[in-house]
Amino acid sequence: MTRPPSSFGTARLVARIPRADDGPAVFAAYASDPAVTRYLAWKAYERVEPLNAFLRDCIAQWEKGNGHFVWLLCLKGTATPIGSIGLTLEAGGKALFGYALAQRFWGHGFAAEALTHLVNWALVQPSIHRAWAYCDVENPASVRVMEKAGMVREGVLRRWHVCPTLGPEPRDCVVCAKVK
Ligand SMILES: CC(C)(COP(=O)(O)OP(=O)(O)OC[C@H]1O[C@@H](n2cnc3c(N)ncnc32)[C@H](O)[C@@H]1OP(=O)(O)O)[C@@H](O)C(=O)NCCC(=O)NCCS
Repeated sequence: MTRPPSSFGTARLVARIPRADDGPAVFAAYASDPAVTRYLAWKAYERVEPLNAFLRDCIAQWEKGNGHFVWLLCLKGTATPIGSIGLTLEAGGKALFGYALAQRFWGHGFAAEALTHLVNWALVQPSIHRAWAYCDVENPASVRVMEKAGMVREGVLRRWHVCPTLGPEPRDCVVCAKVK
């Protein structure tokens, strides 16, 4: 299976595989913030232990190479995570992305910078034909991030995902993709 790079750099960011000891920094930066998780598929962590377990699982998935890849994003020259970006390689040549940033780093183009890098990486792989992502219809900043990464809005997936921060009902999502 195609394997993405375990680390990469952009103009302002370094992306790397999580480490087992990243839990407290990730917890403090964004994973405990309900404003960050508002439109995400997971609820803000209230304790660091389950987050440590999640990060250990991310590391194990890198080792297994089963198609799920998560990077932590750090500002160049620092080691503290300010966010994360994930890639799932799906059957049929599809690469699905997701991302989240600490609130104090919103609005500086960081998410678009990381996503653009990975979308470009994905679409030069011979086996990948579709780089795509979706987000809640009420999350226009995320739609914009996808557009800035070269994806085109394709439509709305109705009742597509649950945001536990907002409630148990599945919600509508905007889907965007870049294809070749
Ligand atoms: C969504 C998120 C990743 C955006 O990250 P970011 O680094 O601030 O994004 P960027 O700075 O690259 O781009 C944001 C764009 O959205 C625009 N934007 C922000 N709020 C907006 C709003 N309410 N309506 C419309 N556009 C908006 C910005 O103007 C910017 O576009 P521009 O550069 O053309 O001006 C960040 O807010 C976040 O982590 N949110 C919580 C997690 C999340 O929702 N992740 C997405 C799940 S799919």
